[in-house]
Amino acid sequence: MAKSRRSYIFKVILPLILLIVLIVWVCSRWNVWFGNIPEPSYVIPNKVQRVLLTMGVDADSRYISWQDSARSEGDETTVVEYVDYYSLSTPSDTLTVEATPTIYHSRAGVDAFYHALLNDLRRGESYVYRVRSSHDTTGWFNFEMDTTHQYSFLYMGDVQDELDGGFDSLLPSIMERNRNTSFMLFGGDLIERPMDCYWDLVFRSLDTFATRYPIVCVPGNHEYLKGLSRKLERRFTLTFPYFEVEDESDNALYSFARGDARFFLLDSNKDIWNLGEQREWLKKQLAESKERWKIVVLHHPLHSIKGAANNLGVWAYFDGVIKEAGVDLVLQGHEHAYARSCVDVSESGEVTSPLYLVTYCSRKDYAMKFYGDVEKWGTDDRYYQRISVSEDSLVIQTYGAEHNLYDDVVLVKDDKGKRLIDRGKEIPEKIQVSEWFRANKSAKKIRKFEKAIEEWKSEHRR
Ligand SMILES: [Fe+2]
Repeated sequence: MAKSRRSYIFKVILPLILLIVLIVWVCSRWNVWFGNIPEPSYVIPNKVQRVLLTMGVDADSRYISWQDSARSEGDETTVVEYVDYYSLSTPSDTLTVEATPTIYHSRAGVDAFYHALLNDLRRGESYVYRVRSSHDTTGWFNFEMDTTHQYSFLYMGDVQDELDGGFDSLLPSIMERNRNTSFMLFGGDLIERPMDCYWDLVFRSLDTFATRYPIVCVPGNHEYLKGLSRKLERRFTLTFPYFEVEDESDNALYSFARGDARFFLLDSNKDIWNLGEQREWLKKQLAESKERWKIVVLHHPLHSIKGAANNLGVWAYFDGVIKEAGVDLVLQGHEHAYARSCVDVSESGEVTSPLYLVTYCSRKDYAMKFYGDVEKWGTDDRYYQRISVSEDSLVIQTYGAEHNLYDDVVLVKDDKGKRLIDRGKEIPEKIQVSEWFRANKSAKKIRKFEKAIEEWKSEHRR
C-alpha cells in the first residue's frame, strides 16, 4: 500500500506540482518574453523628414532614405536631385532619381517611407543633394565619396536611449573629434523600442550627420517586435534600405566593402531555425571576399560575458565559420559592458583568432560575469570606437564618454603573419557599479555585482 502511494506521489503528484510551477513561472514572464508595450499614437507631419544617407549596392553607390506623411502617396514628383558639387553652377547637370513610397501601418500610425539609389558616383568627388516632392523641398545636403584606402570609421554598440538619454548631446561631441570619419556603424539596439517616439529621438541625435555620413546598423532585439515568433519591425529595414540587396532571404543581411576591408552584417536575433541560412550566406560571402580585412558585425556576442549558456545558437552557427575564414574582427553589443578578447595569442603577440569586441554606448549597463579570455573589461561609461583601416593594420581605439582613450589595440598583418599589439593594457580598467545600475536594479543584484567585482579584482590584482 505504502509502495503504491509513493509511486503515485512520484508519478502523478510531483510532475503535477512541477507543471503548475512551470505554468506560473511562464505566466509571470509572459509579457517580458512575448509582450510589447503599446505604442503611443502619432501623426507624421506632411513634409520630407528623417533624411538618411547610407551604403548602396556597391562601393560606388549610396542609398538615401526619408519619411513623409502617408498623404504623399501618389505624389509623382518625389525625387532626389543630386549633382557633383563642382557642377553646381550648371544646373543642367543635375541628376534625378524618382522614388515611390512604401506605406507602412505601424501599431499606432501610418508612415510613408521612401528611398532612392544613387549609382555610379565617382570616388573622390563631393555631391550635393536634396529631396523634392510636390509639397516640400529640403535644403541641399552634401556628402563625399572618399577615395583613400586609409580611413577610419566610428563603431557604437547599443545606444538605446530613453527620452532623456543624452545621446543627442554625446554624438555632436564625438563628431567634433571625428570629422574625418568615413561612416558610422551601429551594433543594434539603436532604439529603445520600435516606436515612432524613439525613432524621432534617434533622428534628433543623428541630426545633420545622418545626411552627410553613411549610417549603417545591424538589427538588435530592441528593433524587434516580441511574440511567439519575433519579427523585425519594418521601420528598421525601411530606414536602412541596403537590406533589400539580399532580398531573397528573410534575414537582414548585408555586406559592403570600403578600401581594404569588407564588412559582413548578420541578424543574430533570428530564431535558431533561420541561422542556418545566415551561416551559408556568411560562408559564401567570406569565401568570395578578396579584401585584406574581414569584419563581422552582429548584435549578440558570440562569447557571452553574462553567462556561459547565453547566445549558444549564434555561437554554434557562426563562430566556427568566422574562425575558419580568418575573420579579423567581430564587432558586437547587447550585453551593455565592455570586453575585448582574442582567444589565441602567442607570447610574441601572434594571433590566430579574431579579435572579439563587446561594447555599448548606452546609459544603461548590466552586470557581467567575468567569463572567458577577456583582456580588457569596462563598465560605467558610454564607449565608442574609432577604427582605422590601412593595408597593414587595423587600429581599434575605444573612448569613454569624456573622450578619454580607454583601450587601444593594433592588429598588424604583413608577410610575418598577423600580430596583436596591446597598447590598451597600460590604461587602467574601470570596473565599478554605475549610478544607473544602483538606481535601477534590486539591492540583491547590486550586492551580487559588487561581490563579483571584488572577487575578480582580488584574484587578478587589478
Ligand atoms: Fe540587445
